[in-house]
Amino acid sequence: MNVTSMQNSDWQIDGSTRILGVIGDPVMHSLSPAMHNLALSYLGVNARYLAFHVKPSHLNDAVRGFVAQGVLGFNSTLPHKEALLKLMDWVDDEAMLMGAVNTVRIEPDGRLLGYNTDAYGFQMAMEMNFPKHMLGAEVVVLGAGGAARGVVTGLANGGVQRITVANRTLSRAEHLLDSLTGPNLARVDRRATPLEPHKLSLETCKLLVNTTSAGMHGESFQAVDLHRLPPDAVVVDIIYTPARTPFLQAAQNRGLKILNGLDMLVHQGARSFYIWTGQQMPVSRVKDYLERLLNS
Ligand code: ATR
Repeated sequence: MNVTSMQNSDWQIDGSTRILGVIGDPVMHSLSPAMHNLALSYLGVNARYLAFHVKPSHLNDAVRGFVAQGVLGFNSTLPHKEALLKLMDWVDDEAMLMGAVNTVRIEPDGRLLGYNTDAYGFQMAMEMNFPKHMLGAEVVVLGAGGAARGVVTGLANGGVQRITVANRTLSRAEHLLDSLTGPNLARVDRRATPLEPHKLSLETCKLLVNTTSAGMHGESFQAVDLHRLPPDAVVVDIIYTPARTPFLQAAQNRGLKILNGLDMLVHQGARSFYIWTGQQMPVSRVKDYLERLLNS
């Protein structure tokens, strides 16, 4: 590892400070700079993490610039995760299976190593909070966009038995399941269904995960009758602002166990952090900090 460590009290920028960051369009609201800078500072790693607003037409130039300037690595968010895959010199199995890269490590010789930590983030969030809710479970995933790819892959890695992807646009759900591959997913019974009340079977569903952006705008789902879930079901929403979407609030009112997306965010970040620095992010400290930040 070529990142030098120093005492916490010496956490200042100098000639050997390394750069990390996130690229996205938009990127301004990303929590990743707060998350990673807290961890870097806490562990005394001589690096800083910045947000870079990169438009799709500038992706290639931005990545070449990072290589030329000796940047240590970076995360990617919407809309770059798929396009980045083609720019990598090496890609790990998970990123290859998902067709998307969310973490890049730049080697000293300029080689670009691509990873995807989203599925790991979801799996860890589940295992930390509800360790018995994945193995052999029937799961319903709402939504079939980019975020659903990480969740479906994480569920397969966690050993679920059946995944139903319910989406407003059925063809996207079908495409998602067709395009995701790998030995863990091959063992899972997979179905696509339209997001409609009579098509969605919830009676034996142990885990219901919302991956759509609906709750960010205060919306919930007419098509999902939470009363049809068994009483021991867990309901997850990968959104973390608001901390409790109307969907999660309704699940809690119904007496179900709930989880929002903050743990997934922190765990995917922790995996990226390890890829760059070889050090373990202090996850509970980072989560507390982000919760305080979101509440302020
Ligand atoms: P992301 O990469 O963040 O997942 P995306 O690719 O735009 O974003 O996908 C958004 C997902 O949210 C899609 O599954 C979308 O459904 P469609 O494929 O039918 O567009 C779903 N979505 C967004 N708003 C929704 C709403 N109000 N009700 C139901 N589904 C919604």
